[in-house]
Amino acid sequence: MSELQTQLDKLRSAFDRDLEKAQNDKALDNVRVRFLGRSGEVTLLRRGIGQLPPEERPSAGKVINEAVEAMEAVLQQAQAALEMRAFESRLAEKIDVTMPGPPAAIGSIHPNRRIIQDICRFFQNHGFAVVLGPEIEPEYYNFDALNIPADHPAREGFDSFFLTDNLLLRPHTSPMQIRTMQQHRPPIAVVVPGRCYRRDAVDARHLFQFTQIEGLLVGEDVHMGHLKGMLTGMCRELFGRDQQVRFRPSFFPFTEPSAEVDTTCPLCRGNGGECRMCGGSGWIELGGSGMVHPNVLRNMDFDPDVYSGWAFGFGVERMALVRYDIDDIRRLYENDPNFLYQLA
Ligand code: DAH
Repeated sequence: MSELQTQLDKLRSAFDRDLEKAQNDKALDNVRVRFLGRSGEVTLLRRGIGQLPPEERPSAGKVINEAVEAMEAVLQQAQAALEMRAFESRLAEKIDVTMPGPPAAIGSIHPNRRIIQDICRFFQNHGFAVVLGPEIEPEYYNFDALNIPADHPAREGFDSFFLTDNLLLRPHTSPMQIRTMQQHRPPIAVVVPGRCYRRDAVDARHLFQFTQIEGLLVGEDVHMGHLKGMLTGMCRELFGRDQQVRFRPSFFPFTEPSAEVDTTCPLCRGNGGECRMCGGSGWIELGGSGMVHPNVLRNMDFDPDVYSGWAFGFGVERMALVRYDIDDIRRLYENDPNFLYQLA
């Protein structure tokens, strides 16, 4: 019995010595494992109980348990003291609140947004208003009022995401021509930027959600020369001072005549050759345009003998690809800061 006590005393002084040297959490834990752990010193002692005469075993167990409790209590105190010291040293830390912090990352205007802003500013400087319209439209605005009757094959290309029998995500911004003409008599001069939707398979040049900017001018004696002049000015604003614009005959039900609009390829400056941007033609297609169809004017109760107008609808992402020499349209929607900062 007294032999056990001697062993315990020895153990305890070894424990105290180790504990004194333990100055951090890890060292404390090592002490705990060494003495109180599952295969620690105390466990070894406990094993010895089996060799004692049976009547001595209970009291031997008791003595060991008491010693263990005492050591655990001391360990806990040591732990608390360590924490306190760490806390106090943090309190004593001196912080220079006047030291400049790391600079905050400031976002940049998205390439699409920049194109929209530049085009809108150009047209606003020429007296146009910027208007926005709903992205969900009934068939009437998407098609019928734009001279695309229900059985017209031109609907096919615009056949997009129907939400009900009658409502769909707009496939183009042209419905806003109708909404504007319903609300205002000529002269009308608006541009309409906005999101559009079509069931196109996504690849380097196509998205099912994209952005268009629409233009509409209606008044007396409005002719295609005005259209070409405005679009040339717009392209010079976006791509450079020497831009040219050309019209290629085309068809849209809501314009007559209709034209596809091309502008000088900004990469090869119209020289073509091996240019990867324009495929060697020297021209980049921007979108559709034309003189507002007399039927559309009539639908709005505007007398086509008095009023005429032109309209255009261009793809904004398309212009961003060309303006910033981007190889894949999907990059515009990946929100990769490394990409966006390059264009900031
Ligand atoms: N809405 C047509 C489209 O998305 C583009 C267009 C063509 C718009 C001629 C117009 C226009 O305003 O006059 O393909």
